[in-house]
Amino acid sequence: MGTTEQANRDAYAASREVLIFDTTLRDGEQSPGISLNTAEKLEIAHQLARLGVDVIEAGFPITSPGDFEAVQAIAREVTEPAPPIVAGLARTHVADIDAAWEAVRDAERPRIHTFISTSDIHIVHQLQSTREDVKGQARAAVAHAKQYLDDVEFSPMDATRSDVEFTAEVCQIAIDEGATTINIPDTVGYAMPHEFQAFLARLYELVPDLHGVTLSVHCHDDLGLAVANSFAGVLAGARQVECAINGIGERAGNASLEEIVMLLRTRHADIGLDTRVNTTELARSSRLVSRLTGYPVQPNKAIVGRNAFAHESGIHQDGVLKERTTYEIMDATTVGLQANSIVLGKHSGRHALRQALEEMGFHVEGQALNTAFRRFKEIADKKKALTAMDLEALVTDELREEISGFGLESFDVESSSERPPHARVSVTLPDGGTAEGSFTGDGPIDAVFAAIDAATGLQAKLRDFQIGAVTEGQDALGEVSVVVEVGGQSGSGQAVATDIIEAAARAYVRALSVAQTRSQRSDQSVGLPATAP
Ligand code: KIV
Ligand code: ZN
Repeated sequence: MGTTEQANRDAYAASREVLIFDTTLRDGEQSPGISLNTAEKLEIAHQLARLGVDVIEAGFPITSPGDFEAVQAIAREVTEPAPPIVAGLARTHVADIDAAWEAVRDAERPRIHTFISTSDIHIVHQLQSTREDVKGQARAAVAHAKQYLDDVEFSPMDATRSDVEFTAEVCQIAIDEGATTINIPDTVGYAMPHEFQAFLARLYELVPDLHGVTLSVHCHDDLGLAVANSFAGVLAGARQVECAINGIGERAGNASLEEIVMLLRTRHADIGLDTRVNTTELARSSRLVSRLTGYPVQPNKAIVGRNAFAHESGIHQDGVLKERTTYEIMDATTVGLQANSIVLGKHSGRHALRQALEEMGFHVEGQALNTAFRRFKEIADKKKALTAMDLEALVTDELREEISGFGLESFDVESSSERPPHARVSVTLPDGGTAEGSFTGDGPIDAVFAAIDAATGLQAKLRDFQIGAVTEGQDALGEVSVVVEVGGQSGSGQAVATDIIEAAARAYVRALSVAQTRSQRSDQSVGLPATAP
């Protein structure tokens, strides 16, 4: 085959591939109550690399030293099994772009993603500026980023509520300055699929140079149309979709990564497009993100929900038993929901635990292995066998321990049908000291939460409380998710334990720590310009 023919084939294959740009760690982390530390972000980024996403938007480096540190760590450490593109977000300000560059520069494949609003609503009310100024800022930002690296993405924010002619002018400027990806956001989730497709078709007409760069879409789910709009974008020619695991993100969230990926995979024969994603890692990615963010996945969530492959009606069960495809369009194993193969018990040693964790992709060494082993033994004493799902929950739970703030030292609850439940707790404080609290509540968990409030001196409002089990069976590990609000800041926490009251208490203490850290951070950032897109 000649080189031109080969080049044509490569170009054709590339045009059939949709790049997956994961923004779980940037837009996803902007969900209310989510606050991930660097270790947690790294763990998610490693899992995203295993999943095979093309781009990891690792954060917004100018916003805080913590965000910068996490983006830099991801850029430096996440290289296996294949180095993903690591992107840092930046407004058009020079300082933002410089911070994004410093954070991503050590990645094998760095990217700067810069954005500015093009809708008049944003230009007039938020930026308090003019269209001319926006054009100048877009030009200067892309030119500045190009001095550092080749891979520059530009987004005209709130594009779908912008004048298409003006958006086209701004995109043309970004391309002239060297942007290699143009991303069209439906920032407030307002578009309808046919409208979004027409908007992109018109952009292609107005900016023929768009054919020479990657067109990307970034859709929010305010009307529940994020995936539908992203797909409409793909049909219009977009070859990058920005999305997040479990669809987390600002307000109602972003397009759900697992849904867009499985749509393209399941309907590949009809659409003719696909992604590089290893779909068997989807379920695990979903569980990891859910645990570390404290955002539970609704049972009926497409692809990764607990019931996504469950059949309740007798007619359906009968059909599936005779032939799976009667009521299933996908095989649960293709999204990683296969049966647990790993089983450890109380006689398993440290070596067996380490090997099982390695098999699951967790590299746990030294002190972390000692702690994991101690927890494993405690749980194995109470529970006959631990499966891969239990180990995964346990290791993720340990990661969560690294949150600085409050910790649960001990608790004692008396619960009876004869008198109101009473709880006593001992809590470690951020300064290293301990405090005790006791309280009588409506139920044992209410009493524990009130006792923790008394010990920490915080007046928290409980916004959400969810209780579940990691696996089936009576001896399953209990899993609790809690969202609290302290001084106007929300925080979420999750914990697993064989005792559900212990899991609830630990989840509550973690949620308090996150809310407290966020309220301290927001006090420190008073006076800084608004940064969240
Ligand atoms: O929703 C949005 O417009 C964004 C941009 C920064 C792409 O998140
Ligand atoms: Zn967004």
